[in-house]
Formats: sequence, C-alpha cells, structure tokens
Amino acid sequence: MRLQTLTWPEVETYLKRSNGIIVPIGSTEQHGPNGMLGTDAICPETIAFGIAKKMEVLIAPTLSIGQAHHHLGFPGTIALRPSTLLAVLVDVVRSLYRHGFRHLYFLNGHGGNEATVNAAFQEIYAQSSFGDADMSDLRLKLCNWYMAPGVGRISKELFGDQEGSHATPSEVSLTFYACPNDVKSTPMSPAIAPEGSIRDAGDYRAQFADGRIGSNPQLATAAAGERLFEACVTDLLEDYGKFLST
Ligand code: NI
Repeated sequence: MRLQTLTWPEVETYLKRSNGIIVPIGSTEQHGPNGMLGTDAICPETIAFGIAKKMEVLIAPTLSIGQAHHHLGFPGTIALRPSTLLAVLVDVVRSLYRHGFRHLYFLNGHGGNEATVNAAFQEIYAQSSFGDADMSDLRLKLCNWYMAPGVGRISKELFGDQEGSHATPSEVSLTFYACPNDVKSTPMSPAIAPEGSIRDAGDYRAQFADGRIGSNPQLATAAAGERLFEACVTDLLEDYGKFLST
C-alpha cells in the first residue's frame, strides 16, 4: 500500500493492524553514461513495492534526495549535505512516531546515505535518552538492498569483478527492469572504470571522468534486473518480518 494514495482514515485503520512502515531512501545523482539519475531511489522503491505485493505493508514516500555532494560535478545531481539529511530524517521519524508507527524500516539504495542514516538513528535515540521525548518503543532499521544475500550471489554470478562500486551493472539492471522505456545503450571506454577513493565533487570528476567507479554497466540488462529484484524481495520479506517481531 502506498501512503500517498491512502486517506488519513485508511492510515488510522492500518495502524490498528500494524505499526510498521517501509521508507525507501535514495539519491538523485549521476550514475555514469547509461545509468539513470534516479537509480538509487528507483531501486529501493521498486523493491519496496515488490514486498508490498506479497504482504500488507505501508510504503512511505521515497526520500529521493540524499547525501551526494561528491556527485555535484555532474549535471542533474541534487544533494543534501549530511546535516540537512540528518535533520530531514529526524523529522520524518518523529512525524511517523507521532501517529503510532513503531517499526520504521529504511530501505536504502545509496551507499553515501549509510553514515548519515545511522547518525540520524543515534540522534533520535539520544533525544529519547536525554528525555526530550520518550521513544523507547521505537525500532529503526537501515537495510541496504544491494547488501541482500541473494543480490550479492546473483551479481557475482553475472558480473564478477565488473560489478565495481558506483554505477554498477546490478543497480543499472534493476532500473532497466523497473523502467523499460528508459533503457539506454551507451558505449564506454575503458569498459571497466578505474577504482579509487573519493573526496569532494571536483576530485571525483577529475578521477572518474564518466562517473563510474570500478564498474562495467554495459553488462546491464532488464532480465538481470528481474532476477535481482526477485531475489531481493524474497530476502527482504523475511528480513522485514523478523524486524517486525523485535
Ligand atoms: Ni547507486
């Protein structure tokens, strides 16, 4: 169920049956020559709705702008600085908590968000610890779809050492499956992008001219995306179910 298409009385009724919600979180940032700017938001959102087809669970609006300042050297990227994203997350959690949500499952599609999401969780728990608000019954979880066991297994099988770490064939495949009318085919050279660590936007663009890191997303296909999707939904259905019982 999609929160945005429900009415408030429908949400009130849902809360009598469940206090869980999945919040997809991603980014709007360059993903190399054939990767969509919305890759990191489209992937977790697609998986979230895949989970919702198999069980009754509410899906919050996707937080589609994340901590991506290092991609600002490429047009189309929109970024929140870590402190802004942290403030957004605290307000989102406290809004949902106020209504009775107690199990908030952040389904993330962007590695750059991980540290800030975890910092936001600590900020919220600290607000409870310091007595600003009693939220001792709140449960928060960060789940990175790309770390699901089935995803790792399939991406290793299909892409091996051409998976890389940014604009990966796995994430590009999943968007090709989710958005078949937007598939792009773009030649890239070298086929496998260079590896390295990143600092700010200028450094990133200087080191990684076409935006990729260590990856060969020319290998991406919608068929691979469908396999990754199915495996991830299976893994996360179980993971979300376990989380609800904590
Ligand atoms: Ni990505």
